[in-house]
Amino acid sequence: MSAPKEGRHGVSSHYFDAQPAAAHRPGLVRVVLPDVYLELETDSGVFSPGRLDPGTRLLLEEAPPPADGDLLDLGCGYGPVACVLASRAPQATVWAVDVNERARDLTARNARHAGLANVRTATPDDPAVPGALAAIWSNPPIRVGKAALHGMLRTWLGRLRPGGHACLVVGRNLGADSLHSWLEEDGWPVARIAARAGYRLLLVTNDPERTRQVSHDTSR
Ligand SMILES: C[S@@+](CC[C@H](N)C(=O)[O-])C[C@H]1O[C@@H](n2cnc3c(N)ncnc32)[C@H](O)[C@@H]1O
Repeated sequence: MSAPKEGRHGVSSHYFDAQPAAAHRPGLVRVVLPDVYLELETDSGVFSPGRLDPGTRLLLEEAPPPADGDLLDLGCGYGPVACVLASRAPQATVWAVDVNERARDLTARNARHAGLANVRTATPDDPAVPGALAAIWSNPPIRVGKAALHGMLRTWLGRLRPGGHACLVVGRNLGADSLHSWLEEDGWPVARIAARAGYRLLLVTNDPERTRQVSHDTSR
């Protein structure tokens, strides 16, 4: 796990704190993709407030198109993944889940400003989040530590509906390959569907044939 950052007043803070102590520092990130353009508000105390994270960009550029139904952005930050998903799948409901209250507030505001009425923000234990998810897209919080990360992934992957899939982007130097191995050891069929600039995009399902099929369709 990374060392906490010391804030100006000696208060330590992480991007995954429930209520970040860092003083507000509003910013703006432009998400420019071939099919979507969004201007999103950011702030200190959330993940990558200065630019679209390159791992997140890989996820948004290479993951297979989202299905309709209930989609989960696990660890939404200021909302780039949730807002792109919501824009690409207007019939879907996108659940933007994060432990960080500032992140959830930014995501809700960004979705509202972009006219995306199909985004719902929630805490991880919010009972409103449906039990059966069509897809999970995530740039997961590796820095919470292995045990917490594994527990979180096990919980949410277990909520994928049959035929659903998860797309997880992880930095190679943050342990993408060992996470890939752990997922397989834990019984999840996994395929690496893209790799760029030190990031890996992993596709996970609950059915080996489905993993083969989606990764084949994605690589065409
Ligand atoms: C790597 S950041 C990705 C943020 C955003 N999706 C992006 O791409 O910019 C991971 C996010 O997971 C959140 N997080 C940490 N622990 C979590 C948990 N147990 N459940 C849900 N989200 C969590 C963090 O607060 C952080 O916003």
